[in-house]
Amino acid sequence: AKITFLTSDNESITVEASSGNVMELAVANNIKGIDGDCGGVCSCATCHVHVLPEFLEIVGRASEIETDMLELDDNADEYSRLGCQINITEALDGVVLKVAK
Ligand code: FES
Repeated sequence: AKITFLTSDNESITVEASSGNVMELAVANNIKGIDGDCGGVCSCATCHVHVLPEFLEIVGRASEIETDMLELDDNADEYSRLGCQINITEALDGVVLKVAK
């Protein structure tokens, strides 16, 4: 699936993967602002992204443990997800994610 990241510098970067998760994809492609400090176990929120509203239904909403983690982040909103909790499937093709501040 091709996934587009919008960075805080207003850059639009489209990358592709067929497996793994969104955090791993971002780290592998040096997407600025996504660090994945905890290695993808939902405990750091350095992989925070905002799903563009039109893609929320495809990507899905945050799980309960994910929401608990996001609540610690002041920039979280209803479109927030943790990248490491979004598994990449073909269904995500064309999705756009904004890197959280
Ligand atoms: Fe730490 Fe996603 S990489 S919460």
